[in-house]
Amino acid sequence: MTLLETTVHIGRAEPRLEAREKVTGHARYAADHPIPGACHAWPVAAGFARGRITAVEADAALALDGVLAVVWHANAPRLEPVDDPNLLVLQSPEVSYYGQIVALVVATTPERAREGAEAVTVRADVSPPDSVLRADHPGLYEPEIVNAGYRGRLDRGDFEAGFAAAAVRVDATYRTPTEHHVAMEPHATTAFWERGRLDVFDATQASSTVRETLAALFGLAPQLVRVHNEHVGGGFGSKGVARPNTVLAALAARCVGRPVKLALPRSMVFTLGGYRTPTIQRVRLGAGSDGRLLAIGHDSISQTSRLTEFAEQCAVVSRVHYAPPNLTTTHRVVALDVPPPTWMRAPGECPGAFALESAIDELAVAGGWDPVRLRIANDTDRDAEGRPFSSRHLVECLREGASRFGWADRDPRPAALREGRWLLGTGVAAASFPAITWPSTATARATADDHFEVAVNAADIGTGARTVLRQIAADALGCDEMCVEIRVGDSAIGYATVAGGSMGTSSWGWAVTKACRLLRERIDRVHGGEVPPEGVAVAADTTEDIAGREEYARHAFGAQFCAVRVDPETGEVRLDRMLGVFAGGRIVNPTTARSQLIGGMTMGVSMALLEQTVLDARSGAFVTADLAAYHVAVNADIPRIDVTFVPETDPHLNPMGSKGLGELGIVGAAAAVANAVYHATGVRCRSLPITPALLLPAVPG
Ligand code: MOS
Repeated sequence: MTLLETTVHIGRAEPRLEAREKVTGHARYAADHPIPGACHAWPVAAGFARGRITAVEADAALALDGVLAVVWHANAPRLEPVDDPNLLVLQSPEVSYYGQIVALVVATTPERAREGAEAVTVRADVSPPDSVLRADHPGLYEPEIVNAGYRGRLDRGDFEAGFAAAAVRVDATYRTPTEHHVAMEPHATTAFWERGRLDVFDATQASSTVRETLAALFGLAPQLVRVHNEHVGGGFGSKGVARPNTVLAALAARCVGRPVKLALPRSMVFTLGGYRTPTIQRVRLGAGSDGRLLAIGHDSISQTSRLTEFAEQCAVVSRVHYAPPNLTTTHRVVALDVPPPTWMRAPGECPGAFALESAIDELAVAGGWDPVRLRIANDTDRDAEGRPFSSRHLVECLREGASRFGWADRDPRPAALREGRWLLGTGVAAASFPAITWPSTATARATADDHFEVAVNAADIGTGARTVLRQIAADALGCDEMCVEIRVGDSAIGYATVAGGSMGTSSWGWAVTKACRLLRERIDRVHGGEVPPEGVAVAADTTEDIAGREEYARHAFGAQFCAVRVDPETGEVRLDRMLGVFAGGRIVNPTTARSQLIGGMTMGVSMALLEQTVLDARSGAFVTADLAAYHVAVNADIPRIDVTFVPETDPHLNPMGSKGLGELGIVGAAAAVANAVYHATGVRCRSLPITPALLLPAVPG
């Protein structure tokens, strides 16, 4: 792997290529494509969390003018088994969670489909659900492997001995609630079959994966399936794999022999689009009288569904941020009568860092140490498994942030600073996220008029992927950006990895770089520097390049600083200002990078103060399944957020030297807010969100 040395376009702040299309409403999302003859599907959701369907009465629906079909498990085409049983829609009478789809009505208009769905009666034998996560649930077990392939348990040294020997100790349990992604575009699909081929416009972060999944489900050769996702209105992980809506639309289209559109109503996005599992995390920290950590214990509990095992990797963050000689990190999960959880922006690291970075703040208070200095004192050049970091500039982020934020002037005493009726406080937390690169393919073509067409099946979910990939291509080709046409969002281009795990730019960019370098070389070596009239085309695959890399712990790091004010009479918390300082390798495009980080930080503040999905224990239903009841931060909640980058050169990543940024910004953000609330009030909030109801009874008047 050779780094791209001469960079003209990489590093330049540029606006999104498709910005005009989007703001003028010309960009087409999954359900926007005008397909002649398309009809519409509306799902019927189970109104219970556990049971078995005995009958679906469809006559009333079928009697409605315009209703074409009512599909359910007794009449649906059979699907082939796949890894994710949640995708085996309408195949079985068993219901595993409230809101699982039990029938689908297809009609000539969306209104008639909805009316039809309301006319369907579902009969079932129903049992009371077990849907609430608790630390003493008898079903808790310890999976060997948790998400992202991590070992569920990692110990080193002797935690109990180290903890017992520590001069200063913290032992606290933190809770995070169920949270939902609420991307602007709901999960939506347009599907049609033509001569045995399946074409799908899907709201997905991973059209290559969706293609493979659909091919497997319908028993087709993958070449017979094509998935388009030219524009995607946000995902945050909820569109990381094929979702039930995708399969339902394809199934319905097959049943009625016409194109079908299915856009989930918001309430169904809450059950079918996945969510972030609630967590219960016990963190134990022990430090010597000098502030050096002697022991970290991080034990995380989360939930999964009865359909699939999903084990959120919350404790892995404690294997990365600091490196005490004694460590224990464990995960336990319990399968409940709930919808399957899924990845949500920085899965693992985000809830994990809320717990760890709150506990570090508690340790600082207990030991009388400054929380910035305490973190710096515990820096490490290796992770808990002994791997060296490919690069790590957490200390620089903390120092730069402290200086810009004015941390030195901080009076550490809690509840000491007032402005009128407000109590003021500041907080800090560390952030990290793995710098992942996954194999992908790309193609590049030169035409005789010095024009280049570069294609990679990236998904631009609002991140600016298209834009940065064109910058990368132009540098790899050594040409002006205006000469490069970049194509993304179509599985027919060839396999490329998901827009997830913050791996997009690094993974797709490497494939693009490789293809462009090959193309240059081909033009020079084979064609003597002149593109022949028929053009030159190449394809590249980074599988072997990535497999051949050395073993390093690769992560991006950052430091979050924030200032809050708390109204002691109402318990209201307002964010005053926030600063994130990040070391994320080479920044390909400062505009889109900053936007990703501000977005992550905003979502972190939202997590700290507002977001929670409430589940009704009697029914197992999410009762806050709309944007009126599920609160997310809006403009009025977010004042100034500043983002700064610490320069970082890392030769062990990819040819761009880039690390992912999409998730880093949310990590630690909620802890920084909670730590600032403590500083303002003297009240330690160990469960999120920090609502007035939680805070008010505890705040000093
Ligand atoms: Mo992200 S949760 O990996 O889409």
